Amino acid sequence: KTNIQVAIDGPASAGKSTIAKIIAKNLSYIYVDTGAMYRTITLAAINAGLINLDGDASEISDVAIQQLLQATQITFKPSDDGQLVFLNEQDVSEEIRQSHVNNLVSLIAAIPTVRRDLVERQRIIANENNVIMDGRDIGTTVLPHAAVKIFLVASVAERAQRRYRENQLKGIDTKITLAEIEASIERRDYLDSHREVSPLTQASDAILVDTTGVTINDVVNEITTIINNKI
Ligand code: C5P
Repeated sequence: KTNIQVAIDGPASAGKSTIAKIIAKNLSYIYVDTGAMYRTITLAAINAGLINLDGDASEISDVAIQQLLQATQITFKPSDDGQLVFLNEQDVSEEIRQSHVNNLVSLIAAIPTVRRDLVERQRIIANENNVIMDGRDIGTTVLPHAAVKIFLVASVAERAQRRYRENQLKGIDTKITLAEIEASIERRDYLDSHREVSPLTQASDAILVDTTGVTINDVVNEITTIINNKI
């Protein structure tokens, strides 16, 4: 039995998880939020004292990172509004979206040992299920043979505005201004696109979808049509 794999990559806050969750539900696929996996490892590194809040990830020893990865189980559990993320037994769904994790995740995600370990976990899930997986390197590295590859983009101004509104709505980091969010998104995109191992880039066979000024519903319809034409 071969499973169907849908890869959605793109820069920060382009709407990947919103879109992927809806399509996964419609098609009864498993949604795999790989960003949440990098965020959870980052939180584990903070909790273990491996990185401080203005941290320099280059000082973390590879042995310490390997131990951390071994001690860190990441699990997803379905919930009403999508899914919950657990670090071992602890529900970290909210904490991994906060600014201390936002600011450090691209540094932890650039560590080759971290990527090797998480990519392996992602492939195991994709081998066992029909998946829609979102991230930065899914089409290029994690699932190079995915049936469908989407590269989802939007203007940085619109992405910052969506994130700002979402933060206000959910009560996360409500004091952070729109300008600060825009700067933080740009910094993360820069780091993610310029790292050595599997940087953020559009796979040659990925379809570019620009969501600037497009409603969620229209993006869902566009991508669903692409999927239906390919499988
Ligand atoms: O998708 P999200 O914004 O939650 O991802 C958080 C961070 O995790 C990204 O900015 C990136 O540094 C890292 N990431 C990655 N590769 C992925 C998914 C996320 O490096 N496949």
